[in-house]
Amino acid sequence: MRVTSFITLLLTFIAFSTSAATSALVPQPASVAYADGEFVFSPVTTYSVASFPGDSIAGVFDSLKNDLEKGAGTTFRQVKKHAVLSLEVNADLAPEAYTLDVTPKGIAIRASRPAGFFYALQTLRQLLPYSFTPLASPASVPCLSITDAPRFGWRGFMLDDARHFFGKDEVKRVLDIMATYKMNRFHWHLADDQGWRVEIKKYPRLTDAGARRDSKTLGWGELKPDTITYEGYYTQDDIREIIAYAADRFIEVVPEIDIPGHSMAAIASYPEVLACDPGHPHEVWILQGISADVMNVANPAAVQMTKDILDELIALFPYRYMHLGGDECPTRKWEANEQCIAQLDSLGSTNFRDLQLNFYKLLGEHIAAKPEADRRTLIFWNEALYGNPELLPKDIAIMAWVAADRDARKAAERGLNTILTPQIPYYLNRKQSTQAGEPLSQGSGRENLEVVYKYEPLRNVPAELQDKYLGVQANLWTEYIHTPEHLEYLMLPRLAAVAETAWTPAELRDYTDFRTRIRAQRPMLDTSGWNFCRHEFMNE
Ligand code: ACM
Repeated sequence: MRVTSFITLLLTFIAFSTSAATSALVPQPASVAYADGEFVFSPVTTYSVASFPGDSIAGVFDSLKNDLEKGAGTTFRQVKKHAVLSLEVNADLAPEAYTLDVTPKGIAIRASRPAGFFYALQTLRQLLPYSFTPLASPASVPCLSITDAPRFGWRGFMLDDARHFFGKDEVKRVLDIMATYKMNRFHWHLADDQGWRVEIKKYPRLTDAGARRDSKTLGWGELKPDTITYEGYYTQDDIREIIAYAADRFIEVVPEIDIPGHSMAAIASYPEVLACDPGHPHEVWILQGISADVMNVANPAAVQMTKDILDELIALFPYRYMHLGGDECPTRKWEANEQCIAQLDSLGSTNFRDLQLNFYKLLGEHIAAKPEADRRTLIFWNEALYGNPELLPKDIAIMAWVAADRDARKAAERGLNTILTPQIPYYLNRKQSTQAGEPLSQGSGRENLEVVYKYEPLRNVPAELQDKYLGVQANLWTEYIHTPEHLEYLMLPRLAAVAETAWTPAELRDYTDFRTRIRAQRPMLDTSGWNFCRHEFMNE
């Protein structure tokens, strides 16, 4: 044997023998043990599904059946027993946990709840080949035993659908990306200075006027507004459709209405109720940045209107969490408003921030008075920590973005639950490389895949506070972003890095290993049709 062919054979052998041990799973499961051999699918594969209330395990399998059939090159046929692929209940597992065992004879999946089965099937999907053309023969899966469960219960992604409006089709693509990486909270930023994007039946002007502005481009520095009318919003039926689509992927939708700052679209729609200076003109903003035009929180009519809006949102969004924003709210207009000055006096305070917290107190009391099923845990950005803590509603969580590590800890020390969404490096709108030609967005490009991956949420967090940390979330603000291509380019592959931080045990996280796995997912990304940043996929 010539030396070159010997080396070729050796390399082939190494590649073959390590292929099983480097299955490109993202996020990396909590435990994977590989064994010799593989399971080879047949043209027809029998499967069985344990019965479950509402048959929801069968529903989970059905929702992924087509994808699995394509990936495995098989057709599934349901049987009662002796199935090759079995989905069985193991009530001892946590709700999102699962086990996945592959032997030469078959595949066994166990979980206690539908979510666990969904994640197991997502893992199986990632073990299968991805191809543009039908497989020439059925696929195989390496023999292995996976025991898996997420590190954090909150694995989030926030889309700012207010600065630019993406619409149902793109939101569904975002949810598909999230589901692929086992993320489970879609934080939907639906109202800001530059647009109100959710139908509220009692206040139609919020969308008739507030969902439209006079420039597509949001001015900032050299970037000037244009003259294009820009508009879009979701009807309540649209919202229900998205909630159902997300629920099929075990993603809870967390709506955000950012109040009382970042509210110019609402103020422009109902200035007589919401403005601090109703006699002055108010517009849906066509600039970026922080506007001084905030709601008059001392006006009882503004408080009542906000309660009415929350009532409709609570009827629409079925989950426990609702986000009321609270970031970057200048107090200048309050300082010049008699009603606000008088209310601050009646609170016995000289800190105008307390007007904002008192507003939240009134909203919190309104929600706390509802029947149990209609109550909500309110989330606020971490600025809400700066004021009289006695005023804040009790059932809240803090989402920490600026000085995030410090303020998440401050929240936890106060006994509040917290979610880490550090601006740096988890704002995925920021450029992801310093290369020339990077599409226009914020940042200098430092928040690349590696920097995002290496953020460790519980670094230096004392053990006794860690249970207050619900999890992590990536945010994507869209001042500069108005196409699906640009949005997905910024999300991928960085969202996968955040997803792994959210799911995988800290001691198993390793950037070099992650990078190898995400690169091996290239065929999956190519067949998905999502846009993604190619920098990390180039050959070295
Ligand atoms: C924020 O980035 N202003 C929450």
